Amino acid sequence: MRLSGKVALVTGSARGIGKTIVERFAAEGAVVALSDVANEAGAAETLAGIVGRGGKGMVAMFDVGDAGQVDAAVQRIVAEQGRIDILVNNAGITRDSLLMRLSEDDFDAVVRTNLKGTFLLTKFVSRTMIKQRSGRIINMSSVVGQMGNAGQSNYSAAKAGIIGFTKSMARELASRGVTVNAIAPGFIMTAMTEALPENVRKAFLEQIPMARFGSPEDVADLAVYLASEGASYVTGQVIGINGGLYM
Ligand SMILES: NC(=O)c1ccc[n+]([C@@H]2O[C@H](COP(=O)([O-])OP(=O)(O)OC[C@H]3O[C@@H](n4cnc5c(N)ncnc54)[C@H](O)[C@@H]3O)[C@@H](O)[C@H]2O)c1
Repeated sequence: MRLSGKVALVTGSARGIGKTIVERFAAEGAVVALSDVANEAGAAETLAGIVGRGGKGMVAMFDVGDAGQVDAAVQRIVAEQGRIDILVNNAGITRDSLLMRLSEDDFDAVVRTNLKGTFLLTKFVSRTMIKQRSGRIINMSSVVGQMGNAGQSNYSAAKAGIIGFTKSMARELASRGVTVNAIAPGFIMTAMTEALPENVRKAFLEQIPMARFGSPEDVADLAVYLASEGASYVTGQVIGINGGLYM
């Protein structure tokens, strides 16, 4: 097992990619802190499945965009588990619209959850990692943060912001034994992408050299690698997992 004894906090893990990541981390021996702003029942069910397979963990419900809630939740996780070794900033939302119809609220909401949430979690969790002199931070960006996408200016700006934030944090935290990397998934089959209209999905598929969408398992495998000992010399990187959509 590649993550034995490690404590991992994964935001937005009640469903989708985050849920698959906590399941994979637990299967690799990590103690997992599942967290989300909604769907506590889903998180509890996922945890029950992990415990049923001999794993360990806890649920911490909080909004990644609220500094007070993030601070309290991180303190609780450290108090209960003793440490945090791995942080995956996975919580994210979309509010798609072409610029002319994009409201200020929809711009702010997307930046708040995706980018500010990543900043807040990194700020509060890195304190613990710096004291430990070790840690792994994995930020969920997106292929659209690298190549842009019509109708997603708010989301692609937030995801591109995560790339800049990741590189700056990698520089700040390298001497403290903490690595910081970003994963940039392409089109992954989850509830977030199932909500897209059929014609948009078809247009994406035509641009993907591998001619298929990815799965949450594909992304979780990469997260396990970045969290593992094998990736100890990897920091400040943006790793695409997109079937060749963007190279
Ligand atoms: N699915 C894809 O194709 C794809 C592609 C590129 C990047 N991503 C990114 O991967 C991550 C996971 O995506 P997914 O497809 O699993 O999405 P999802 O919508 O299935 O899951 C996201 C989770 O984040 C939670 N969340 C939303 N706002 C939150 C907040 N303020 N605080 C805490 N939790 C919050 C949601 O409740 C949800 O459980 C996101 O950051 C997304 O932007 C997804």
